[in-house]
Amino acid sequence: MVQLTLPKNSRISNDGRTWPKPAGAKRVTEFRIYRYDPDSGANPRVDTYFVDRDDCGPMVLDALLWIKNKVDPTLTLRRSCREGICGSCAMNIDGGNTLACTKAIDDIKGVIKIYPLPHMPVVKDLVPDLTRFYAQHASIEPWLKTDTAKPEKEWRQSREDREKLDGLYECILCACCSTSCPSYWWNGDRYLGPAALLQAYRWLIDSRDEGTGERLDNLEDPFRLYRCHTIMNCAQTCPKGLNPAKAIAEVKKMMVARQV
Ligand code: SF4
Ligand code: SF4
Ligand code: FES
Repeated sequence: MVQLTLPKNSRISNDGRTWPKPAGAKRVTEFRIYRYDPDSGANPRVDTYFVDRDDCGPMVLDALLWIKNKVDPTLTLRRSCREGICGSCAMNIDGGNTLACTKAIDDIKGVIKIYPLPHMPVVKDLVPDLTRFYAQHASIEPWLKTDTAKPEKEWRQSREDREKLDGLYECILCACCSTSCPSYWWNGDRYLGPAALLQAYRWLIDSRDEGTGERLDNLEDPFRLYRCHTIMNCAQTCPKGLNPAKAIAEVKKMMVARQV
């Protein structure tokens, strides 16, 4: 597991609160959770909670909701689908970025430490500000671009061409990969990061798309594409098992191919 740095605005104070253990619980797991409320003016802290495992579901998200519902309603996090589809519950759990709803509590040994996705500004507690991340995704123009006349019914694609999108279309834009990428940590304002680049490749190799030239022009820049140094944190951390580093390498190959 890759050990990751703390989120931005992270001068952690020693004022963390330890909440009482649930009375009568036989099976208890300890959670230490990053807390930050910008409105309070206080530095971030880490609070300690004890979860009654016999009263809680098996996943880390279940434990967070148990804490929110039964101990501390001020704990703030994002979640929606609770089945690995919406990407909103991405956070740093036990030193790695992943989805709280698909991470089993029993897969983690000892105290469970939870932080927001690293190196992003924090809105509150476990909620990172993903404004720039989404803007970068929008900048690769993630839609079908065509010049030829619109077909009467639909843009057709062969089964073989459709299969080329496997391993790319499944991305849920959770940002686990980009926020685990050292190049993105240091140059996130100029480097697009693995998530946006994986999507860029997804549209570059779509057989129906006719915007390949302008898509490559849009990436031809010392920072937007070429800050990937193949460190591979992105592929290691992706909760959907995707490989953004490979997609980035393929985009670089396309760049070379069009120059020869
Ligand atoms: S392979 Fe590239 S995109 Fe992935 S973590 Fe490394 S530098 Fe970042
Ligand atoms: S490639 Fe994986 S880690 Fe990155 S945003 Fe998509 S689903 Fe999340
Ligand atoms: S709640 Fe949707 S991915 Fe976890």
